Amino acid sequence: MNAAASNIIDGKDFAAGLREKVGAAVPAFTESAGRAPGLAVVLVGDDPASQIYVGSKVKMTRAAGMESFEHRLPADTQQEALEALVKQLNSDDAVDGILVQLPLPSHLDQQAVIDLIDPDKDVDGLTPTSTGRLALGIEGLVPCTPLGCMMLLKDRLGDLSGKDAIVLGRSILVGKPMAQLLLAENCTVTVAHSRTRDLKERVCEADIVVAAVGRAEMVKGDWLKQGAVVIDVGINRLEPAEGEKKGRLVGDVDYAAATPHVSAITPVPGGVGPMTIACLLRNTLVAAHRRAGLADPEGL
Ligand code: GUN
Repeated sequence: MNAAASNIIDGKDFAAGLREKVGAAVPAFTESAGRAPGLAVVLVGDDPASQIYVGSKVKMTRAAGMESFEHRLPADTQQEALEALVKQLNSDDAVDGILVQLPLPSHLDQQAVIDLIDPDKDVDGLTPTSTGRLALGIEGLVPCTPLGCMMLLKDRLGDLSGKDAIVLGRSILVGKPMAQLLLAENCTVTVAHSRTRDLKERVCEADIVVAAVGRAEMVKGDWLKQGAVVIDVGINRLEPAEGEKKGRLVGDVDYAAATPHVSAITPVPGGVGPMTIACLLRNTLVAAHRRAGLADPEGL
């Protein structure tokens, strides 16, 4: 292994370990509850990336021994029909987790759909109740991608107390919940966004950089403090180079330029990406235990 390789945070390997732990805890739940934990995934329309994500979610849910309920609806589905489906899933006892794949087609009111999800089944952690619980530090379900980022950070750094962290991006799926989670671990948190001034100087001061803006290789090597830990949430496809059919996948951080500056960094692909589904399975198992009145599974 060369020096740079030891800096790599292997999210693929960590996620496989987490999925294995979840899978190992499923039989005990199934035995106690008389049914397997169940996850319902709702996809509206035919966005190719979403189709792939949903396909992987269904496959990995089944591989972990859980029940998967898949609802694929046409792109012209009306608000009332989608809301009726969410209500039906709320009242279905076999369903412990509900995930509505985002983004929804633009004619649909995304927030109104999310608001309807039973917070006890909100394995995506996106309802106002889950968001409020996270802000208040009350037990709840946390969005999967930031939860996965935190697991990787804690695994690498241990105690995060007192660290300066910067989150690039303020989305409901990643940036905002990430900032809350870092704050809960006693980091000093900056949330940067498209209107932030002096971005490079702010990133330069951070011990922890979480990049979630969706702009290919925006963060340059010389933006990073020596020894920083970088979590790259971005997945961006470059234009194909000559002779390539498809462009390369890259993160929001210029990986090659960053590597000499950092103590650790997640690659793209193979970093944060695999953690999202592993955390979705974890959240489904936790939701199933809580709904059945059982103690949370240990070590997850
Ligand atoms: N689209 C991309 N990532 C996610 C996610 O974590 N949850 C949902 N619901 N939609 C997504």
